[in-house]
Amino acid sequence: MVHLFNVAAALALMSSVSAQCGSGTPDATVTVRINTVFGSGSSFVAKKGSSTVYTGDYRTAIQRAVDSIASGQRVAVMASGSIGAGTITIQAGKTFEGCGTINAAINSGRGAIEVTNAANVKIPYLTMTGSVYFGLRFSGTTGLTLGDITFDLTAGMGIRFDRDRAANSNVKIGTVTCKRASSHCVETFNIDKLEIGSVIARNVGECGLLLQTVTNVKVGLVDGDNVAAGNGYATLRFANQAGKLNGGYATNIVVDKVKSRGGGRGVFCVSESGGVQIGSIDLANNGNNAILLENCYNVNIKGGTVNGGGEVRLAARTEFANSKDIAITAKIDGTTVRESPCTANKTKWTLTGNASKNICT
Ligand SMILES: *[C@@H]1O[C@H](CO)[C@@H](O)[C@H](O)[C@H]1NC(C)=O
Ligand SMILES: *[C@@H]1O[C@H](CO)[C@@H](O)[C@H](O)[C@H]1NC(C)=O
Repeated sequence: MVHLFNVAAALALMSSVSAQCGSGTPDATVTVRINTVFGSGSSFVAKKGSSTVYTGDYRTAIQRAVDSIASGQRVAVMASGSIGAGTITIQAGKTFEGCGTINAAINSGRGAIEVTNAANVKIPYLTMTGSVYFGLRFSGTTGLTLGDITFDLTAGMGIRFDRDRAANSNVKIGTVTCKRASSHCVETFNIDKLEIGSVIARNVGECGLLLQTVTNVKVGLVDGDNVAAGNGYATLRFANQAGKLNGGYATNIVVDKVKSRGGGRGVFCVSESGGVQIGSIDLANNGNNAILLENCYNVNIKGGTVNGGGEVRLAARTEFANSKDIAITAKIDGTTVRESPCTANKTKWTLTGNASKNICT
C-alpha cells in the first residue's frame, strides 16, 4: 500500500511538472551563467539543442534563441534578467515560454515583445516586470495563443492589439494578471474571434479589459480591484464599435462575469458598441459609475449585483444614435439608477434592491 501510494504521488508530481514552463526538452533555451571566476556579473547563454548560439546580454540571448528555432519549435527562457528598452520579435509558428521574470524598460511606441503579421505564435507562459510602453504588442496575427501571462508594471500597458495596423483573427488568451500598470491591462483593436479566460487587474491605472473594434468574442471573467481610479475608464470597457458585426449588433460579445471593486467605473460601454451579453455582474464601491452605457446597442446584463458606488446610468451623446435594445436585470443597492435620455426600444429593466430609480417605464 505504501509503495502504491508513493508511485501514485510520484506520477501526480510528474504530470504536474510536465505541464510547467520550460518542461520537457525545449528546442532552444536561455540560461544564466554566473561569472564566479572573474568576480561579479553574469552572462546569458542561448542554446539551440546543445549548441551555444550566443553568450552575452539577456535581450540578445533571448532574440538569438528565438531566431534559432524553426516554425513549430519552442524556446524556453529559463533565466530572469532585464531586456532594457528593447523589443523581442517572435516569428510565425514559434512557441515562446518566459519561465524567468523578464524585466523591461520603456521602448517608446513599441512592445517589449512583439508579434507582427505572423500565424500561430504561442506564448504559454510569461512574467514581465519593470516599465513598458506595451508589454506585449500584436498586429496581423492569426491563431495567436497566450496562456498564463502576468505583469507587474510600474508604467505602461500590459497587452495591446494595435489600432492602425493589420487586423487579427482567432486569438486565444488564457489568464492575464496585471498587478499594476499605469495604462490598461489588456487593450484590443481589430480582432475577429477572440477567446479570453480571465483578466485579473489589480491597481491598474486605466482599463482591466478594453474591447474595441472586435467581433465574435467570448470572455470568462474580468475581475478588477482599484482599476481606473480617478478617471473615466473601467474594469471592463467596450468602445469604438466593439461588437459591430456586418453592420448590425447581433449578440456576439459574451462575457460570463464581471467583478469590480473600488477604482473608477465598473462596466462602461460607449461609442457605438454593443452586441454584448454579460451573464453576471458583481460591482461594489466603484468610484465612478458602476455601469455607464452611452450610445450602445443590444446590451443585455442578465443578473448580479451592484452594491454602493457611483450611479448606474444609461446616457447618450448627440453625436451618435441613441442607445437602444438594452436589458438590465440586477439587484442594485446603495446607489442610484438613472436613464436619461430614454433609450430607443424601451430598456427592459428588471431591478431589485433599494437603489433610487429615475428610469423610463
Ligand atoms: C440598501 O441595501 C443594502 C444592502 O442590503 C444595505 O446595506 C443598505 O443599508 C440599504 N440602504 C437603504 C437606504 O436602505
Ligand atoms: C425595436 O425592436 C424591434 C423588435 O422588437 C425591432 O424590429 C426594431 O428594429 C427596433 N427598433 C429600433 C429603432 O431599434
